[in-house]
Amino acid sequence: MRGTSMKLQSLRRTVLGISAAALLAAGAAVPGHAAEAADPVLRDLAAAHGISYGTAVTGAKLTGAYADVAGAQFDSITPGNEMKWGSVEPVRGDFRWSGADAVVDFAEARGQKVRGHTLVWHSQLPSWVENGSWTASGLRTVMTEHIKTAAGRYKGRIDHWDVVNEAFDEDGTRRQSVFQRTLGDGYIADAFRAARAADPAAKLYLNDYNVEGLNAKSDGMYELVRSLKAQGVPIDGVGLQAHLIVGQVPPSLQANIQRFADLGVDVAVTELDIRMQLPATEAKLAQQKADYAAVTRACLAVSRCVGVTVWGFTDSDSWIPDFFEGQGAATPYDEGFRPKPAFYGIAEALGWTGDPGPGPGPGPVDGCAVAYAVQNQWSAGFTAQVTVRNTGTAPVNGWQLAWTWPSGQSVTQAWNAAMNQSGASVAAANVPYNASIAPGGSVTFGFNGAWSGGNAAPAGFALNGRPCATGTAQAG
Ligand code: G3I
Repeated sequence: MRGTSMKLQSLRRTVLGISAAALLAAGAAVPGHAAEAADPVLRDLAAAHGISYGTAVTGAKLTGAYADVAGAQFDSITPGNEMKWGSVEPVRGDFRWSGADAVVDFAEARGQKVRGHTLVWHSQLPSWVENGSWTASGLRTVMTEHIKTAAGRYKGRIDHWDVVNEAFDEDGTRRQSVFQRTLGDGYIADAFRAARAADPAAKLYLNDYNVEGLNAKSDGMYELVRSLKAQGVPIDGVGLQAHLIVGQVPPSLQANIQRFADLGVDVAVTELDIRMQLPATEAKLAQQKADYAAVTRACLAVSRCVGVTVWGFTDSDSWIPDFFEGQGAATPYDEGFRPKPAFYGIAEALGWTGDPGPGPGPGPVDGCAVAYAVQNQWSAGFTAQVTVRNTGTAPVNGWQLAWTWPSGQSVTQAWNAAMNQSGASVAAANVPYNASIAPGGSVTFGFNGAWSGGNAAPAGFALNGRPCATGTAQAG
């Protein structure tokens, strides 16, 4: 099975005349991190094992460095939001395909597979579906028509469809979505049959979260897959989303993948991210590296595990800070598109034996000072400037400056840095053109913020995890 898929993958890429190595050689360099011959390319490493390594993307961001990394490193693309029901049919019969089309076109131009996400889901569902007063037959028609239209539009161009997403509650019983409430248990089989009819070549998946290890929820999913297979329902695969927490990869992940595989379906890790409480430290990033490697190895260990998709490849494009206050840094690349230890954990699990070296990724800092100044302040807003000086003896190659707001301020717009805020925690990362700070040198960036009540300066700053002197940015 894996041998066949490996052959198909390499045939496909030869026909398209595209290889990741060629893209890199053609100048798809990662800013702030020069493309070097020794750099691992995940899509090539994965292909050598007959598995896929993919990423979810935000279609609107697919230009510049973001597009370069997404295209060069991954062999499968999942539209993060663009194919959801609420995006493509917000009003009944009014279909909007431009966002989804752009992602599919992007992937095809780079010889990448597309995971269609998702046809039937309780969330990001337009109000006309969620809050309609439906008879069973009325909703069944709406659901199957939606599947027919979406899967039919991309017929032959989608490798895997997440046909039904998140159908279970944590105890393994069915989630009481509008589909479950109105149509009963049979809606899932109906959805898979409609998807098969619309696109016979696509692999059809049941996808969910918190089903990575052996637990009540994955037991419920297992029973459903067993019963669908017994009834001859066209299900091809199970997607384990894998929104995980640093240090908490379920020990039973591989056994769980294996038991689904033994039912005669493929398995994919479909939405991998591994979040941590901010700020990121070297120790947390090291644990995250081990965790990404462990998930990758669990997939490699089961022949029917067809691949892994990360849910956003860069911390600048992750859902985590918006949904889990104070958490983030969940992906393999930082905000400045520099590979993190997690990236090398994946590469090493895929057999790469090179040396990450001190270059990529924010390295150690042996001295720093920060000057923070509010330059202008008005009723609810302010403009601030931050100067970071390297007071050590070693160059800084790639930097991230972290601080905590003392009185509820928030960043609204930044220049000369990529800034992210989660709760009161702020992380400002270099942009491609100011990644390096020579010994004695400095960089300056600025931002607009919002305040109310108080606008005191942060008590301290940490550069790549190292506390900095504050005040003048001269001493250290
Ligand atoms: O597009 C609007 C924008 O116009 C508006 O200004 C902004 C204000 O909040 O919201 C934007 O929509 C957001 C959308 O992402 C696009 O960025 C929604 O608020 C936000 O809720 C939505 O979050 C998505 C989330 O699904 C919704 O549940 C995440 O991006 C997306 O990554 C996430 O993905 C899900 C998978 O589909 C299923 N598994 C879990 C995974 C993580 O939640």
